[in-house]
Amino acid sequence: MARRRLAVIGAGAIGRMHVERARLHPHAEVVAIADPSPAAQQFAHAEGLRWFADYAAMLDEVRPEGAIVATPNATHVDVGLACVARGVPALIEKPVADHVEDALRLDRAAREANVPLLVGHHRRHNPILRRAREIVRSGRLGKPVAANALATFYKPDAYFDMQWRREAGGGPVLINLIHDIDIMRFLLGEIVEVQAQTSNGVRGFAVEDTAAVLLRFASGALGTIVVSDTAAAPWNWDLAAGEAAHYPRQQENTHFLIGTDASLTLPQLDVWEYRSGKGWHEPLTVERSTPHAGDPYHEQLRHFAAVIAREEAPLCTADDGARTLAATLAVHRAAASRAPAVPADAMQR
Ligand SMILES: NC(=O)c1ccc[n+]([C@@H]2O[C@H](COP(=O)([O-])OP(=O)(O)OC[C@H]3O[C@@H](n4cnc5c(N)ncnc54)[C@H](O)[C@@H]3O)[C@@H](O)[C@H]2O)c1
Repeated sequence: MARRRLAVIGAGAIGRMHVERARLHPHAEVVAIADPSPAAQQFAHAEGLRWFADYAAMLDEVRPEGAIVATPNATHVDVGLACVARGVPALIEKPVADHVEDALRLDRAAREANVPLLVGHHRRHNPILRRAREIVRSGRLGKPVAANALATFYKPDAYFDMQWRREAGGGPVLINLIHDIDIMRFLLGEIVEVQAQTSNGVRGFAVEDTAAVLLRFASGALGTIVVSDTAAAPWNWDLAAGEAAHYPRQQENTHFLIGTDASLTLPQLDVWEYRSGKGWHEPLTVERSTPHAGDPYHEQLRHFAAVIAREEAPLCTADDGARTLAATLAVHRAAASRAPAVPADAMQR
C-alpha cells in the first residue's frame, strides 16, 4: 500500500504523537500541519513539514489524502465539516464532538458526501481488545450477564493547573471513562440505560474526581464502572495494557466480562470456565493467552490508510462515536438527576 499523504490539524500533545507514529509507519506520511500556535509552528519547522495557521487554507493548498483532527473537542465538528466539504477523509480524535446532536450533524454530512470519517477511539485497535471481541462473539462466554471495569489512577497535582480541567466537562468522566464505555460498547453492544453517582469530595473542584456507574445493555447484561483520578491504584487500562511507554505497566486486570459459560478478563485475556461439571462446588479452569502486544495508534494509522483507500470501513464511525458520547454524557445526566438516563434520548435525529 502506498504511503498516504496526511495533514495533522492541531499539533498539541496527541497531534504530535500522531506525527511521531506516522514517521515510523509504512502506510502514512504527514506532509503538513495546521495549528496557529507558535509552538506548533516551531514543531512543524523542526520536523521539516509545511505549516499553516489556518486549517481551511491548508486543506485547499495541500489537498491531503487524509486529515488527522487533534484540536480541542469543541472544534472537532467544524474542522470535520471542512474536511468533508473538500472530500478529505478524517481521523477525528475522541470525543467526536462536545454534543451528540453536533456529532450526528457531522455524521450526516459525511454520509451524504460519501466521505469516510474515523473517530479516534484508539483502544479498539489494540490486539488485546480485538481478541477479546473475537472470544465474546464466538459465544464461548455463553450469555454475557455482567461486566465490571475499574479506571482508577492518580493524576498529579500539576495536571490541574489548567483551569478547564477543574471545570465541568474537564473531569475523568468525559476524558477517561469515555474510553471504558467505548470498550464496553465495543465488546458487549449497546448501552440502553445508565445510573450514576459522582463525587468531587477529595479534590473539591467543580468537576467530579470520582464516579460510580451502573449500565444496562440491550442484551440484558448489567455492568459497573468506577472511575477516579484521585486514587493511588494500578487498576486502569493505561497502566495495565501497556499502550504507552510513559505509563509504567502493571500486570493487573481492569475489565471483567462474565458469562453463563465462561468469563474473560482484560487485558490479561484469562478465560475462566468449567471443563467438567458446572457449579460452584466444581473446579474452574483458567486459560491465559499471552496478551498480544501491539501499538493501537500504529494500527489505527494502518486502518486509516485503508479507510482512505476505501478498502476498509471505519471501525468507529461518527455515528458510533456519537453513541459512545451519548452513553458517557448520560452519566452526567443520571448523576445530576439521581435518576436513570437513556443514552438513546440524545440520539434522536
Ligand atoms: N485518543 C487519545 O489517546 C487521546 C489522548 C489525548 C487527547 N485526545 C484528544 O485529542 C484532542 C486534543 O487533545 P490534546 O491533549 O492534544 O490537546 P492540546 O491542547 O495539547 O492540543 C490541541 C492543539 O490544537 C490547536 N488548535 C486549537 N484550535 C485550533 C484550530 N482552530 N485549528 C488548528 N489547531 C488548533 C492548539 O493550538 C493546540 O496545539 C482532544 O479532543 C482530546 O480529547 C485523545
